Amino acid sequence: MSKKPFYITTPIYYPSGNPHIGHCYTTVACDSIARFKRMQGYDVMFLTGTDEHGLKIEQKATAKGVTPKEFVDEIVSEFKKLWGFMNISYDRFIRTTDDYHVETVQKIFKALYDKGYIYKGEYSGKYCTPCESFWTDSQLDEKGCCPECHRPVTLAKEESYFFKISTFADRIEKLLTETDYLRPKNRANELVNNFIKPGLEDLCVSRTSFKWGIPVSFDDKHVVYVWIDALSNYISALGYINGKYDDFEKFWPADVHMVAKDIMRFHAIIWPAILMALDLPMPKHLAVHGWITFNGEKMSKSLGNVVDPFVLGQRYGCDAIRYHILREMALGADSSFSNEIMINRINSDLANGFGNLVSRTVAMADKYFGGTLPTEREAADIDEDFKSVILDAVSKVEEHMDETRIKQALETIFAAVDRANKYIDETEPWVLGRDESKRARLAAVLYNLLDGIRIISALLSCFMPETMPKVWEQIGASEADIAYEKLSVFGVLPENVTVHKGEILFPRIDVVKEIEELNNIIKKNMEAAQANLSAEEKGEASAEEIELAPEISIDDFAKVELRCAKILSAEKVKKSDKLLCLQLDDGMGGRQVVSGIAQYYTPEELVGKKIQLVANLKPVKLRGVESFGMITAADTPDGVKVLFLDDSIPAGSKIR
Ligand code: MSP
Repeated sequence: MSKKPFYITTPIYYPSGNPHIGHCYTTVACDSIARFKRMQGYDVMFLTGTDEHGLKIEQKATAKGVTPKEFVDEIVSEFKKLWGFMNISYDRFIRTTDDYHVETVQKIFKALYDKGYIYKGEYSGKYCTPCESFWTDSQLDEKGCCPECHRPVTLAKEESYFFKISTFADRIEKLLTETDYLRPKNRANELVNNFIKPGLEDLCVSRTSFKWGIPVSFDDKHVVYVWIDALSNYISALGYINGKYDDFEKFWPADVHMVAKDIMRFHAIIWPAILMALDLPMPKHLAVHGWITFNGEKMSKSLGNVVDPFVLGQRYGCDAIRYHILREMALGADSSFSNEIMINRINSDLANGFGNLVSRTVAMADKYFGGTLPTEREAADIDEDFKSVILDAVSKVEEHMDETRIKQALETIFAAVDRANKYIDETEPWVLGRDESKRARLAAVLYNLLDGIRIISALLSCFMPETMPKVWEQIGASEADIAYEKLSVFGVLPENVTVHKGEILFPRIDVVKEIEELNNIIKKNMEAAQANLSAEEKGEASAEEIELAPEISIDDFAKVELRCAKILSAEKVKKSDKLLCLQLDDGMGGRQVVSGIAQYYTPEELVGKKIQLVANLKPVKLRGVESFGMITAADTPDGVKVLFLDDSIPAGSKIR
């Protein structure tokens, strides 16, 4: 019987800088699902790759004095090196500079043009270069900047091709609200309210202002908009209208596209529209996760090498890193990365929890039976509860993996690990071992533990593929013993199984010493990173780049009433990702201000802090919430940073 196909994809990454832990999350998560599905007997296609075109890459290559292709080649090899190091079992790696992808994109563009979905016009709008996105005025943030990265946008005008995306608005809305395409489903409202309800505008899908892209085949002064190019990778990689592969019929529609929240919009609106225009079926699921944050912000290169997965993997093993990032992130929410949390997690779950379970069990089988269990057994009631918890875990993990709930799958497995450790405490093998008449009972307990470890470790092998074969060696499990269909039954290991004591799987880490060492590494790497960064990346725009607003007199400035205020409380504004509603002590009886900083600060980070308030700004309503003034903040390459004031300044003090 032929195996059922299963197709899973990561986003294709921009090779504009070296990869970091943030990039690892989606890739490791997809890898775990791909491995799980292979274990279940599916014919898996796991796709990843790189998204190599666009103005940003062209500019970086020029700055470095190399061609764009030379520039990306070097970074793509870093991505591949990292995926090798992290044991990523991708089946195919696509580069958007590959000829067959170029062929598909050109044909898709032409097909949409021939069908009348793409037409030629003139574009005039606000363009954000770092995000490669045009925005309408209504989409810009409160300061008129890019709603994604909050950097200034420029007015751009060019002859362009447009995609009549509005044709598909109703079908897209239904896809998001009436099917289970989007995971988690609760993000559908935000997409519908922010993008579909205000009216989908035709999308500008070609550029003439730069060259590094795929030329439109019938009008080569245009290159194809980078998102049309990038999204098409999911089908070009299967051979859709190209001669390189022929897996399209087998694997399309994809089972899971996994992406982070910042690129949800492209996958939830633009990608379905392209597929609808091509008359192709919709992918089954779009799983959207949050960001791994560091100090409350999305990780970025300028933070230095704390996030370098190579450094962390070399110190603790790549399985420990894989486990940590997967265990911390719930689908849909952000998860904050810290060295302390990582080390404590490795110690508690991997060293004390699972590692200890394996080493204690193997050591006892060795000590009491010379490594080989006798076949005589004595069962007890307590065994059944232990076995049922382990077997239940298998079906629960299966459900969680089908729903892309990786964190919950790991929680389930580690609840089974805890149950196994508790079983040791309940059965007290060291007491049984002292009594010759209890040998059959002791053998039963140790056998149950070894067989339980067999099931747990087989499940864990999808998440920690490097360590689990070592466990199988230690508990005497053969490849056949860990086959998926054998995970729903107990009693698979040979009755007279022989264990082999082995190395410690996850050595305990000395928290204090390790944090100190990591902090030293971070410090050095941050200094090196800063020294290597260009002025632009450091946020030090050079004098000639800064375009000042027209001069004002001191009287003009005096019209702005700046006051010190203290943040008393902060909460997210409903239906907005970006806005926080702040209650302030302004020394004048208090007021409410709405600020677009929700992506950069949690309420807890703000409460109690003193800030600069523009106190005489005309009140406005933002997402239906009244705002009386605004707080000041700086735009930096790492996002928005609020200007906090010294705590000794009383609330209400005038600032001049
Ligand atoms: N090239 C586009 C994707 C095109 S897919 C057709 C792109 N590339 S990216 O390299 O900038 O980002 C790739 C993915 O990595 C995105 O989902 C992005 O959100 C994710 N991450 C980058 N930093 C991240 C974190 N700190 N945390 C979690 N994911 C993060 O977007």
